[in-house]
Amino acid sequence: MKEPKQLSVSAIQNGTVIDHIPARNLFKVIQILGLDRIDHQITFGTNLESKKLGKKAIIKIADKFFEDDDINRIALVAPDAKLNIIRGYEVVEKKVVEVPDTIVGIAKCMNPKCITNFEPVTTRFRVVSKKNVSLKCHYCEKITNQENLQII
Ligand code: CTP
Ligand code: ZN
Repeated sequence: MKEPKQLSVSAIQNGTVIDHIPARNLFKVIQILGLDRIDHQITFGTNLESKKLGKKAIIKIADKFFEDDDINRIALVAPDAKLNIIRGYEVVEKKVVEVPDTIVGIAKCMNPKCITNFEPVTTRFRVVSKKNVSLKCHYCEKITNQENLQII
């Protein structure tokens, strides 16, 4: 017989649930969204079982609703993330994240000679491939791809 569904992290009344985050990238997601700097109630769980991801993490932020542009910033580290918008304890909307066309900050240029690596310049990339992420640096035009992607 199937076990009744149990929540490992309590339900919220209103806010956003970000599910299907790869467990190893939970703290990167927290950093990218600036969740360490807001005073909303936040609960999270990590190393939860997931058929798709192996180990997943989930974050629940009470009374917070993100702009799509802000949430898409996590696509580099949590491409399969699912957003659930909660109102009155009900899931009223589900969204997926999409890799944006440009990435400002977040990623490090892999070219050691790039100005962004020795001057206080915010990195900036054009996304040349979204599937196997490939980023072209606005400053040195070198490509940083999935394998050498480092989050700042
Ligand atoms: N959730 C919550 N508080 C609520 C309602 C839902 O925290 N008041 C969370 C659930 O714990 C779940 C997510 O929001 O992690 C999505 O809820 P639901 O669509 O009911 O779950 P599933 O059907 O398992 O979603 P999916 O398979 O799309 O991930
Ligand atoms: Zn560069």
